[in-house]
Amino acid sequence: MSLSLNHLGIDLLSSEFIADPYPSYERLRQTSPILYDADWGLWFISSYEDINALLRDRRLGRDMEGAPKPDPRTPFGKLHHNSLMEKEPPDHTRLRGLVNRAFTPARVEALRPHITAIAHRLIDAVQARGEMDLLADFAEPLPVMVIAELLGVPEEGRAYLRPWSQAIVAMYELAPTPEDEQRANRAVTEFSTYLQGLVAERRVAPREDLISALIEAEEEGHRLSEDELIATCILMLNAGHEATVNAIANGMLAFFRHPDQYELLKRSPELIKTAVEEVLRYDTPLQMFRRWVRENVEYKDLRFEKGSRLALLYAAGNRDPARFPDPHRLDITRQDNPHLGFGAGLHYCVGAPLARLEMQVAFQALLERLPNLRLASEKLEYRPNFVIRGLKALPVRF
Ligand code: HEM
Repeated sequence: MSLSLNHLGIDLLSSEFIADPYPSYERLRQTSPILYDADWGLWFISSYEDINALLRDRRLGRDMEGAPKPDPRTPFGKLHHNSLMEKEPPDHTRLRGLVNRAFTPARVEALRPHITAIAHRLIDAVQARGEMDLLADFAEPLPVMVIAELLGVPEEGRAYLRPWSQAIVAMYELAPTPEDEQRANRAVTEFSTYLQGLVAERRVAPREDLISALIEAEEEGHRLSEDELIATCILMLNAGHEATVNAIANGMLAFFRHPDQYELLKRSPELIKTAVEEVLRYDTPLQMFRRWVRENVEYKDLRFEKGSRLALLYAAGNRDPARFPDPHRLDITRQDNPHLGFGAGLHYCVGAPLARLEMQVAFQALLERLPNLRLASEKLEYRPNFVIRGLKALPVRF
C-alpha cells in the first residue's frame, strides 16, 4: 500500500494543520520527502534539496501544453491566460523583462524614505491609543499604499485593492470552491474595468508611474497586448501586497514568540537584514507552489511522468535540518540563509527587493516608535488558507 498524506495524519485543509503546519512537514520529510498522494493527484516535495533542484529544472513549469486551465472565456480564466506568472518562455521572458525594470535594487532603494514616511504616518495614527490590530492598522495598509503609489492607483481606488486581491488569490489555494470562483470572476471584472479607466486616463496624460511605463512599452511596440497590460497591472497590485502583509505580521509574531531575538534586534538594529531573511525562512508567507511536468523526468530513483504535477512545499524546505542547522530556532543572526521564501529559478519573485525593503522599514519603524510593543492576546486565529499563510488579526499593546 502506498503512503498518503492521510496515512501520515496530515489534512492540509484542517484548522489544526493551518494553525501549525511545521510538525506535519517534519513528519512528511522524515517519512517520505517525495510522496505521491493519489487523493490530491500531486507529488508532495518537502526537502530543501529536492525543492531547490526541481524549481530550477526547466522540464517543469507553471504552464504546460494541454494542462487543464480555467476557461479563458471567464474573467478569471482570461486573467490567468494573460498573467506572466502563468507563462513559460518566450512569453514569460518578454513580460517579465518589462516589469523587471521597475524592481532593480537601485530603483527600489530610492523608495526607502517614502516607505519610511508611510510607516511613520500609520504609527502616528494609532500611537495615542496604546493598542492596535497590527495587521489591519499597519501590516495591511503599508504594502497596499506602496504598491498602489508605484503603479499609480489614486487614493479613492485603494480601498478596493485588498478585497479584489483576496477574492482573486483564493483561486491559488489547493481546493477553491465554486463560490470562490464566482467571487474571483466578479472581482476580476470590477478590477479590470477600474484599471481600463485608469489606463485610458494615463494614455492621454502619462505620469511617473508603472501603469504609464507599461503603456509606453506597449506603444513602443514591445508586444504587450491590452489584455496583458491589464493582467500585469492586476498581478503587480495583488502579488505586490498580498504576501508582504503576512510577511510583516507573521514576522512580528515570530519576534513576540522569541523574546530573546526580539530584544537582540532592539539592541542591534544593524541585524535587520538577516532578521528579515530569517522570518521569511521561519514562517514562510507563501507555503507552496505547484509545477507541471512538461516532459518525463528521471529524478533520483523516481520518474515523474509528463503531465503529472508537483506540489513544492517551500515552507517545509525552509525548516529542513539538512540545509538549515537547528531549523526550528529563530536566529536573526543566521548568515547562511538561502531560503525558498521567494521561490527559486525562473519564477523567482520579481518583487523580492521591494518586499525586503518594506519589511525592513516596517520592523524598524515599529521597534523605534513603539519600544513596548507586545502581544495583547495569545488567542490568535489564522485565515482558513493553506498556500497563503496569514493571521486574521494581530492584537498588540504598546
Ligand atoms: C514578502 C513578500 C513576498 C513574498 C514572500 C513573495 C513570494 C513569491 C514567491 C514564492 C514567488 C514564486 C512563485 C512560484 O514559485 O511559482 C513569487 C513570484 C512573484 N512575485 Fe512575489 N513575493 C512577495 C512580494 C512581492 C512583491 C512586493 C511583488 C511586486 C511588487 C511581487 C511580485 C511577484 C510576481 C510578479 C511574481 C511572479 C514572477 C514570475 O512568475 O516570474 N512579490 N513571489
